[in-house]
Amino acid sequence: MSRILYDESNLPDLSKLKAKCYDDPKAAEGEEPIKRIAVLTSGGDAPGMNAAIRGVVRCGLNAGFEVFGITRGFHGLWKGEISPINRRDVSEKLQRGGTFLMTARSKSFTTPEGVLKGAKMLDVYGIDALVVIGGDGSFKGARDLARIGIPVIGIPGTIDNDIASTEYTIGYDTSMNTAMEAIDKLRDTASSHERCSVIEVMGRKAGYIALNVGIATGAECILVPEVPYDFDRDVVRTILDGRNSGKHHYIVIVAEGVGSATDIAAKIEAATGVESRPTILGHLQRGGSPTLRDRTTASRMAVQAVDCLINNRFNRVIVEKAGKIADVDIEEALAMTKSISVEEINNAGRLF
Ligand code: F6P
Repeated sequence: MSRILYDESNLPDLSKLKAKCYDDPKAAEGEEPIKRIAVLTSGGDAPGMNAAIRGVVRCGLNAGFEVFGITRGFHGLWKGEISPINRRDVSEKLQRGGTFLMTARSKSFTTPEGVLKGAKMLDVYGIDALVVIGGDGSFKGARDLARIGIPVIGIPGTIDNDIASTEYTIGYDTSMNTAMEAIDKLRDTASSHERCSVIEVMGRKAGYIALNVGIATGAECILVPEVPYDFDRDVVRTILDGRNSGKHHYIVIVAEGVGSATDIAAKIEAATGVESRPTILGHLQRGGSPTLRDRTTASRMAVQAVDCLINNRFNRVIVEKAGKIADVDIEEALAMTKSISVEEINNAGRLF
């Protein structure tokens, strides 16, 4: 039975639709029980995505679902890269970085026709519900499918921790630990040469990675896009005060959303006379074996996702709230915002 509510002849403007909300337990009454589910990873990969896939597959099979894996994210869905996946297919994946289903950033899902085409592909394979592991962009693709009748569940997977509905996203801990280890090494050489090391970390428009690795590595300055800074007061003055108090090397963490470490290092050197070197940590922050935190969170979120499917509670995003795993309506999740506060940055500055 097809769940798609529209076809090409009556496809409305998707931005005017809302996915059905299942906050009221009665909303699930009368829903056709699901039998076949599919899982995909989308957007930037994140350590722990494999653990999340494994969790969905094993837990889904244990619940009696037939489970399908879609390769290359929404792009693969569009092209019908869909195959059954069994419990042995996910052996030896828990500890691996990246995503063995592979991922892509897909533009095809930004048009109503693209969304309908994806929904039809799920229909062809008789898939009743889709689990999407990714960030906000991927959740928008999932939400659009939900708006035309496909039940979806989102599991937050991104190193950026920039999904407002959840306090934690899969991959965040591993990437911060990777960055921290790299910065500890940069500190050794900055100290030997009495330099300023300006390190650019990932995070897109969010500064969560920067804030925490800055605290963990004892950085003099942490620049994040959420909190405006004054270069002379917050960077130059801090470094000069440090020098006056006997410091010989400096660590400045720049979130990529603030600007280029190369430009900032040049400005620091010109303004302070302290030799400054930029380092862009780049994609190494996305690789590596997931930490315990990422493996366990991914696994618990996968169980919650399958629980939603078992109970016909669709169109949910799995979240961590006050240390507990829960789920929220996908439309509400995408309307939420979160930000780093001035106080958090100021408190980090008090450790200098
Ligand atoms: O969203 C994860 C992330 O690594 C961001 O921190 C970064 O801005 C972006 O992806 C890089 O994307 P790409 O791998 O497509 O260059």
